Amino acid sequence: MKINHLGIATKGIDEALEFWQDALGLENVHTETVEDQKVRVAMLPIGESRIELLEPTSDDSPISKFLEKRGPGIHHIAIEVEDIEASLNTLKEKGMRLIDEKPRTGAEGCLVAFIHPSSTKGVLLELVQSVKA
Ligand code: CO
Repeated sequence: MKINHLGIATKGIDEALEFWQDALGLENVHTETVEDQKVRVAMLPIGESRIELLEPTSDDSPISKFLEKRGPGIHHIAIEVEDIEASLNTLKEKGMRLIDEKPRTGAEGCLVAFIHPSSTKGVLLELVQSVKA
C-alpha cells in the first residue's frame, strides 16, 4: 500500500493554486470535475503521491458541507490498494463502517470507496484502485 493522495478541501482551486503551485512550486497536471461527488479536483504530484485540491461544484456537495463545518483544510487521506473489493470485504468482516459498500468511479477513472472516520479514529479514508493501462 502507499499514499495515493491527500485530499484538501478548498473554497476555490484557483485560489489554492496560488500557494501549492505558484508559491510552493508543485505542478497542476490534471483538473477534472467528478459529477458523482459534486467536486472539481486538481492533482499535483509530489513524489510518489499527489496533493488533491477539492472544490465544491454545488451547495449540496460533501465538500460544501465540510467547508461550512470545518473550513478549508485536510479532508481525507487516500491509500492505494491492489484490489479494492477485497479490501472493502476485509474491512467489513472486521466490523469497520464503510461509507461506500461498493467502489465508485473517482477522478481519472480510478475505483474509489470511502471508510467512515468513526472506524479510523477520526480520519476520512479513501481507498483507491488505479486503473492499470
Ligand atoms: Co480523493
